[in-house]
Amino acid sequence: MKSLITLYLSLFFIQTTSIWGVYGEFAVDGRVLELNDSNIDAAISTFDYIFIDFYAPWCGHCKRLNPELDKAAPILAGLKNPVIIAKVNVDKYKSLIKKHDIDGYPTLKIFIHGIPTEYYGPRKFDQLVQYLKKFVAPDVTILNSNSGVAEFVEEAGIDFPVFIGFDVKESMISNLARKYKKKAWFSVAMDFSEDLMSVYDFDKVPALVAIQPMYSEASIFYGPFEENFLEDFIKQNLLPLAVPINEDTLRILKNEGRKIALTIVEDEISDGSKDLIKLLKAAASANRDLIFGYVGLKQFGDFVEAFEVSKKTQLPKMVVWDGDEEYSFVNGSEWIKEGDQGSQITRFLEGYKKGNVIQKRIGPSFTGFIKSLFGLGTLIMIIFIILLMAVFMIFTKDDEPTTLGPRQGAEGTSNLLSQSERGGDKED
Ligand SMILES: *[C@@H]1O[C@H](CO)[C@@H](O)[C@H](O)[C@H]1NC(C)=O
Ligand SMILES: *[C@@H]1O[C@H](CO)[C@@H](O)[C@H](O)[C@H]1NC(C)=O
Repeated sequence: MKSLITLYLSLFFIQTTSIWGVYGEFAVDGRVLELNDSNIDAAISTFDYIFIDFYAPWCGHCKRLNPELDKAAPILAGLKNPVIIAKVNVDKYKSLIKKHDIDGYPTLKIFIHGIPTEYYGPRKFDQLVQYLKKFVAPDVTILNSNSGVAEFVEEAGIDFPVFIGFDVKESMISNLARKYKKKAWFSVAMDFSEDLMSVYDFDKVPALVAIQPMYSEASIFYGPFEENFLEDFIKQNLLPLAVPINEDTLRILKNEGRKIALTIVEDEISDGSKDLIKLLKAAASANRDLIFGYVGLKQFGDFVEAFEVSKKTQLPKMVVWDGDEEYSFVNGSEWIKEGDQGSQITRFLEGYKKGNVIQKRIGPSFTGFIKSLFGLGTLIMIIFIILLMAVFMIFTKDDEPTTLGPRQGAEGTSNLLSQSERGGDKED
């Protein structure tokens, strides 16, 4: 009941503080603006932040997006930096296809002061709101009090990591904040009390605190405050210490560079796996040259099969995967047995570093598999989504075009040339 009241109050607050009104020829009333070829330019120049859905009425992905945009529009118009949601039927106004470089339906773009950026992020309204908030936020937010820090963290939500530089000069992190803007929130805090130091668990300044709200993890960097060290710290903290492997995190890992110490378990959410994951986190913090990932046969069987794992295989099993077509076993320590699993992980890592490995190649079907991740049958997708949602909330999605194949990073985009939908809708 209390949450209902809060919801009601926050809706009320949004309604009363929004930019509702008439701007030139555009009425902003919390609904999605329907544009055409004669007013789209005016809309782009009227609003500082406008998100445009270039759609075709026959496209199924577009139809499914509509209710999400309807829900997001009033919330986004009520932000401190209001984002106007608009759509335009490019099947009707064909001249816009060339002009705005539309190569699939829907194509989503956010225009920030008239400059377009294509949007590849999630399309469920709540996440869309989070992502667009991130787009329009300043690169580095300046925080001037304890409550300012608390509000910033609260506002940031759980979809992205949060970096707070305590007594760190804005100029020290502004380049990197710009570079990683789409993947994390950045802030610097200048006025804060010692209480806050214990809340965030640092004992001297300057300190850059990285928080992974989704995984309840935090780490602290005390320097040296030089760009390359800072960048390493930021990159390492874009991911949690032990990364659950699923289709979202795979997209991020694809561009990572570090190899992945992959632990394959029977079931990610069993008690045994939880204990093992704790040990993996400890190993990860001591071995930053590798990424530590884990995956359950039960959760992601199709992926796990690539590593010669089937229902009959003894698990847990560890491999080092290059993120592409090669992986290696450590001779003699590929299984993690009952007992002291911590020392078995250590032995595995020592063996790997000594080069005591057996190289393997993943079959050619694997690359195909990774690509097909985005074209799996609806049923499998539903099972995935339910399982993944149950275990983790959806992890930070890469909002740039990924390397998984042309436009596969976009969630279902119909091909303009074929004028028909690609198979395997994933969003039902
Ligand atoms: C475009 O939309 C505006 C506002 O709805 C309308 O006044 C105008 O006539 C439309 N132009 C065309 C070419 O449809
Ligand atoms: C693995 O280790 C065993 C004994 O420890 C050794 O006989 C075997 O040759 C090793 N295999 C490879 C491929 O290194």
